Amino acid sequence: MATRNTSILPRATQQVIVGMKTPAGIVSVGVLLVDRDTSAKADNSVGRFRYAPSYLRRPDAVPLDPIEIPLQEGEFRFGRMGGLPSAIRDSSPDNWGRTLIRQKFAAENYTAPIAEVDYLLCSPADRSGNLHFAVDFGRDGEPQWDKRALTPERIPEMTALKEHVIEALRNPHAVQGKPYPKEMDALLTGSGGARPKVNVSTRSGTIMIKMANPLEDKASNARLEEASIRMAAAVGVTTCAVQTNKETDQDFLLVKRFDISPEGHRLQMVSAMTVLNANDAPFDRTNWSYPQFARELDRWSSQPAVDKEMLFRAMVVRAMLSDADDHPRNYALIRDPMDPANRGGGSTLGQWRLAPMYDCVVGMGRGYKAPELAMALGDRGYEISEENILSRCASFGLSEPKARQIMKEIEAQVLNDFPKILDQCQVSSQDKLVAMQGVAPLADRHVENAVTALLNSAGADIPTQKPAATAPKPQEPQPARTGNTPNRLRP
Ligand SMILES: Nc1ncnc2c1ncn2[C@@H]1O[C@H](COP(=O)(O)OP(=O)(O)O)[C@@H](O)[C@H]1O
Ligand SMILES: [Mg+2]
Repeated sequence: MATRNTSILPRATQQVIVGMKTPAGIVSVGVLLVDRDTSAKADNSVGRFRYAPSYLRRPDAVPLDPIEIPLQEGEFRFGRMGGLPSAIRDSSPDNWGRTLIRQKFAAENYTAPIAEVDYLLCSPADRSGNLHFAVDFGRDGEPQWDKRALTPERIPEMTALKEHVIEALRNPHAVQGKPYPKEMDALLTGSGGARPKVNVSTRSGTIMIKMANPLEDKASNARLEEASIRMAAAVGVTTCAVQTNKETDQDFLLVKRFDISPEGHRLQMVSAMTVLNANDAPFDRTNWSYPQFARELDRWSSQPAVDKEMLFRAMVVRAMLSDADDHPRNYALIRDPMDPANRGGGSTLGQWRLAPMYDCVVGMGRGYKAPELAMALGDRGYEISEENILSRCASFGLSEPKARQIMKEIEAQVLNDFPKILDQCQVSSQDKLVAMQGVAPLADRHVENAVTALLNSAGADIPTQKPAATAPKPQEPQPARTGNTPNRLRP
């Protein structure tokens, strides 16, 4: 195996010291040991986590995950997601960050498989949430926390970075020995997601910049995302603040970070993947379910009634917009440790809120009306239909008449207002046309699509788009893992 000079050495058992950012600094929470096993195609590493006794003694200690890793002595074992507990996996980059990390390793001629834990440890600390990681302790006995945190910076020269973005996107699996341009480090982020992005901390707040994908985008994704998020806000969903920057040759979207308070404190964050105890491989969508997520809000949220209705509205607006990229990493819960109601330690159940909606973009397939969402809506699974949306309304704390009223109001509002919002966001007339093809009433879209397909196959002269035959794949497929990885093992 070739050597490499990254800060992480490929150890058979990889130590990860886990820290949590508090207003007083980073506190050591515990240690995760990952027994590396990447011998098969998949990452079958097993992780063992223990809270530090010093942390358990703290009166303000809170768990990383109140269900799966409650505050207690002893070892917790994890047999999937490369041995990472899901609440820690939430801190790892997804496709974009991983692509750059692979480029870096390849530049050093590192040929061994990169384990899930390597992605975690090689990513900078600009990730969402309040966790930090270290590999070792320094001479002073303190963990050497991840180097590149959010630093006050001006927005980088996006145009100059564009060529590097294109290069990275062209070679997502990296080319051995190919030099790694130093400028790419400006693009290396611990944030999740597939789209190229950069985080910038300014005096007036922290923003995530979502860049264009020059190889794939046929439209201005930034303007369409801004319009979709504004549409969701207009139907009563709490969303993150967004604004398209149109001053460079390629638009980019400025997204205000919701996990950092105005005073600069970091909020704890877990994805819906963690809350649902779900897998993030698109081939295993067990537990990818809105009603189930709503029921989890009953025990996690400090305002379950509000959050459950919010989730219902989010589900309906995504269905209206054909946004089938609604996988559980595109939902999160946040917990503000500075909220007076959350002071003190112990289980944090009942202290979380549904995070503002993010990553909502009209019709990911562009030009078709999605027949399904990525997460199940009700008794009829992923199917977009009124019947399915209403079938589990009780899980969202809504009576049938109330749920129907909300659904009908959102439907009418989207049909009426979305064209105007697209105009306000200066979406081009061509992009507007294509975007509006994804917007359609909720009644039985799968039937409508099936009829269209039948008519098309019979040679009918109807100029319609080809419907998706199967559920559209989420945008962020994760590295392959075995299908039968064991469930997380309790201590
Ligand atoms: N406004 C935000 N504040 C904090 N974290 C965010 C925000 N928006 C998204 N995230 C986190 O960053 C990840 C990537 O962002 P996302 O908008 O989903 O990008 P992509 O389009 O590439 O999937 C999300 O999965 C979520 O964990
Ligand atoms: Mg996303």
